[in-house]
Amino acid sequence: MILKNGNTFHLQGRSTSYIILINEYGDLIHYHYGKKLADMDYCARIANESRSVMSYDEKGICLEISLLEYPAYGYTDLRSPAYSVKNKYGNSVSRLLYKDYCIIQNEVQQIEGMPCVFSGDKKAQTLEITLRDNIINLEVILSYTVFEEYDIILRSAKFINTADEVMTVETCYSASIDFEKGEYDLVYFPGAWIREREFIRTEIRLGEKLDISNARGGSGHAVNPFVMLCSKDATERKGEVYGFSLIYSGNHSTVVECDIYGNVRVKQGINPFEFEHELRPDETFYTPQSVLCYSDSGFGGLSREMHDVYRNNLCKSKWANMDRPILINNWEATYFDFDEEKLMEIVKKAKALGIELFVLDDGWFGKRNDDKSSLGDWFVNKQKLPSGINGLAKRVNNEGLKFGLWFEPEMVNPDSKLYRTHPAWAISVPDRRPAFGRNQYMLDLSNNDVCDYIIKSLSDILGNANISYVKWDYNRMMTDMPCKGYNHRYTLGLYKVLDALTEKFPDVLFEGCASGGGRFDAGILAYSPQIWTSDNSDAVSRLKIQYSTSMCYPLSTISAHVTASPNHQVGRITPLKTRADVAYAGIFGYELDITQMDAVETEEVKKQIEFYNEIRTLVRTGDFYRLQSPYDGNYCSWQIVAKDKSEFVLFGCRVLALPNTKDAILKLEGLDESLQYTDIDTEEQFGGAELMYRGILPKYKNYDFSTFVRRFKSK
Ligand code: GLA
Repeated sequence: MILKNGNTFHLQGRSTSYIILINEYGDLIHYHYGKKLADMDYCARIANESRSVMSYDEKGICLEISLLEYPAYGYTDLRSPAYSVKNKYGNSVSRLLYKDYCIIQNEVQQIEGMPCVFSGDKKAQTLEITLRDNIINLEVILSYTVFEEYDIILRSAKFINTADEVMTVETCYSASIDFEKGEYDLVYFPGAWIREREFIRTEIRLGEKLDISNARGGSGHAVNPFVMLCSKDATERKGEVYGFSLIYSGNHSTVVECDIYGNVRVKQGINPFEFEHELRPDETFYTPQSVLCYSDSGFGGLSREMHDVYRNNLCKSKWANMDRPILINNWEATYFDFDEEKLMEIVKKAKALGIELFVLDDGWFGKRNDDKSSLGDWFVNKQKLPSGINGLAKRVNNEGLKFGLWFEPEMVNPDSKLYRTHPAWAISVPDRRPAFGRNQYMLDLSNNDVCDYIIKSLSDILGNANISYVKWDYNRMMTDMPCKGYNHRYTLGLYKVLDALTEKFPDVLFEGCASGGGRFDAGILAYSPQIWTSDNSDAVSRLKIQYSTSMCYPLSTISAHVTASPNHQVGRITPLKTRADVAYAGIFGYELDITQMDAVETEEVKKQIEFYNEIRTLVRTGDFYRLQSPYDGNYCSWQIVAKDKSEFVLFGCRVLALPNTKDAILKLEGLDESLQYTDIDTEEQFGGAELMYRGILPKYKNYDFSTFVRRFKSK
């Protein structure tokens, strides 16, 4: 609900309030974000403090000591700004004052050319506050969407040039909030290839400015566009937590700045580094959407809220709300070394195991037998696949499996027909040869002709064979950007291509990928309901990767495969059971040479598939509780509970075996106290209250990487 009471705007979510005030001069003041408050005019609360050695104007106003809603730099506030627009005089001093507002019923802000959260069957309202700088004739419309059933606020900004001259947007965060002085920690998720999204918690100290930004092209392995600000006492189960997730796949930035008095400013949006956008008279510029989420029940509470929002109200694909097929991917089984008959052996074995989808990975096109050539040449290699893609898809379908195909549409190898025909389509700067990444260049998606080529070449393949699934890969970082702001233009081009293809092929399940989880962001999730989480599929590494990915992103988006042992990335030897038990907490599949499995392994895999079939709707739709963090020691455990609390799955892992040691009891969460739950395998019965308040003893085997998965039902 959005309430306007005097000069107070009060946005109320399910149990949250977000309160904005207009002061007597028209500045937008931030008053409260957190637990729900009563509806009243809070303007009397504006503190008219003054402090020595501060800048102030002729009325004595000093914005630096105020909590601001969308701050500028240079007009009495010298903290880092939410926006900066260079005007005709060459400076970027600005002060935006309140002009007017409107409330749009039953609508979520939609942003031209960019993915957004949608309302679906949820009730939403949007507040638009127009601010204006009369000196330079700049208008900015701040947009806030609030949902009756969620504790999230969607924020974005729209810049309008109402002057007669060009101005240049240099900084344009989607959201900025000033939090009152307090003791806060920051949680963020840096990483690298095969080490994605580590969970890092750090204190925010006086005067500190933490820049959680990425300028590597895509949202990147290096740091995810999701952070949490939390109270010092916040844990998985309790404490105040604020989440900030950007729906954007390009260079992003979240800055957390603790000012000289201890107030904390958090802002999130496009990374201003190497960004600018020229705004001609009457033109507008839209920022991407930032999703703010509040919970007073710790990280767990925040995650469950984000999971509900992102699995129900972000991805338009029909697959978002459907169980996904269990797949087999040939990459780690064959790499580039395959032919049609080898693939069909895998398919036949997959059928016998109960697998539903066969995905043909890299190496099927052009003359690609290694990673040195052919990206861009999206036509089949008949030497490897004499039946062509259409024929192979038919053969796979005849075995009773769906067929899926890998593409890396944004790339081109210099050794390709495409590059030889259109060298200017690769991103480059004048007089320099572009840098390589995995022997490839990036295509210039700011060029419509390039976007049209990608749409057409993929459409030709998807339209001429029965392809049910596409793995959309992206395997290098962006360098050699031709001008400031290029990365944003590229990102808009990417969204245009994804929009076109997902609309044209609504039945195809798209899976995102970027050298594993190098572009695991809400922008990509708007098109592909699942993303390959990491090229590291070692079960022990995956404990951490999946654990921290789940902080923001639902299990329905986290692709997890059982792969070979010793593992190809880290060489670790783990039991087949461990690998499957970890992968169940996601979109499950296999990626190893199943034709090499012996009879015992074959039987085990059949059972794993039967088991996942039974739990996959629960995994996709249930509430996720993280019980023990792999970052805290030798254990990791989690629980997935049905929304109606009638059933749950419990997973535990003891990483290294311990001699003669008792494992700690696990206190479960999210159950119905009054229900009796039965372990489906052992038929043991436990009370809901007993499981939560007394706990259950885990049962580990006495070897390294021992795991268990137990399934309980109340009826
Ligand atoms: C990337 C992906 C892998 C695989 C290879 C193929 O590394 O993350 O899953 O598709 O590309 O080249």
